[in-house]
Amino acid sequence: MLKLSIENIAGFVSSDEISSFQKAITNGQHAIFNKTGQGSDFLGWVNLPSEIDEDTIADIEKTASYIQAHAEIFVVIGIGGSYLGARAVIEALKHNFDFAQSHDERQKPLVLYAGQNLSQDYLSDLLDILNKRDYALTVISKSGTTTEPAVAFRILRNHLEDKYGKDGARRRIIAITDKSEGALKQLSLNEGYKTYVVPDDIGGRYSVLTPVGLLPISVAGFDIRMLVKGAVDMQRKLAQSSSINENPAAMYAAARNALYQNGKVIEIMVNYQPNLCFFTEWWKQLYGESEGKEGKGIFPAGVVNTTDLHSMGQYIQEGERKIFETVLSVENPQKNLRIPSETGNLDKLNFIAGKEIHFVNQMAEIATTLAHVDGQVPNFRISIPEVTEYSLGQLIYFYEFACALSGYTLGINPFDQPGVEAYKKNMFALLGKPGFEKETEEIKKRIKE
Ligand code: PA5
Repeated sequence: MLKLSIENIAGFVSSDEISSFQKAITNGQHAIFNKTGQGSDFLGWVNLPSEIDEDTIADIEKTASYIQAHAEIFVVIGIGGSYLGARAVIEALKHNFDFAQSHDERQKPLVLYAGQNLSQDYLSDLLDILNKRDYALTVISKSGTTTEPAVAFRILRNHLEDKYGKDGARRRIIAITDKSEGALKQLSLNEGYKTYVVPDDIGGRYSVLTPVGLLPISVAGFDIRMLVKGAVDMQRKLAQSSSINENPAAMYAAARNALYQNGKVIEIMVNYQPNLCFFTEWWKQLYGESEGKEGKGIFPAGVVNTTDLHSMGQYIQEGERKIFETVLSVENPQKNLRIPSETGNLDKLNFIAGKEIHFVNQMAEIATTLAHVDGQVPNFRISIPEVTEYSLGQLIYFYEFACALSGYTLGINPFDQPGVEAYKKNMFALLGKPGFEKETEEIKKRIKE
């Protein structure tokens, strides 16, 4: 089971300061379960794990098997919450070098991503690869109108139709979108694409346990039943109590608010496994988009150690003292590898010969935590036994629940993202989108070439 350790924040906030948030946390938990808080239309994720039905899981697995049989590559088109959850889980579980394996070695489609940027070179390079391989795709957009995935889908849909014909392409496209509205829904109806629904009451960044995450994860060959089981077990655990002494999500939410109140405005998620890099990206979106509003919010950042100890380590140790860290610690590796002994011992490493590399990594983690605590950086530690579907399911639900609690404690709506619209309005004005004529005129005055 996931464990939260707060011993290395103790010197920075007192237990009284943390406990002072208990009332807000209890109110937050009440608001989540009774749908009485801000954004209560978006609480579908709360009971989602235990309510996913067998038919939905079986249907996703059937579609995944079809894709596995017909495609070497599966392209996931989406941005933000419409791709980060799937990517977080797939990257955490896949072979670190799956792109260098042959299809026979991998035995499952290689998952690639599109629609998460507007880079012409990125999409062109993707087309180069897709010219040579059999592929299928899913296009994921709740609104169905987001520019980045819509552009990528237009390109890849044309490419698929040129490659396989209209009928062949239809069998290789799965749309995941709103149940009744939006351009993607309409297009899917017109073209006869297989579709899955993003529920109305679940926002993008809380959607990983809907088909948005489950379909790509299943296509990649991972066990979505165990992922859901991990989430269900965490859902049941967190629902039992709102006490910060019994509910780890409540403790994490209270303690990070206490740190924030003491000037710690940046939280860095630290991991020692490069395959968790996209888990950090998912977490950054979840917390950044949920809490960063009304001039408030902890800034979520991430490092992968020990790599980043040789780049960001200096700042974390001695820069501005506004940081706290949460180490995502993995107790056991999946594979064995020991450091060999050498007769010459020129590199002077024989003192650790015979040890597992993971042991050295663990010592690096402990050493870094202590050094950072000495440097006035409080450290949470969240540990999981190993990187499996089950543990990731637990982590996902833990972070979602803690995010909602933390957001309510901060006094904001953790389920909206009004600030995301500002760049879109400017971009549409610059691109001359019909309906934006006034904005186009105004923005042109601001940019002098
Ligand atoms: O969390 C969110 O709501 C956002 O990150 C969205 O997922 C993202 O903007 C993509 O939106 P859509 O799925 O409508 O294309």
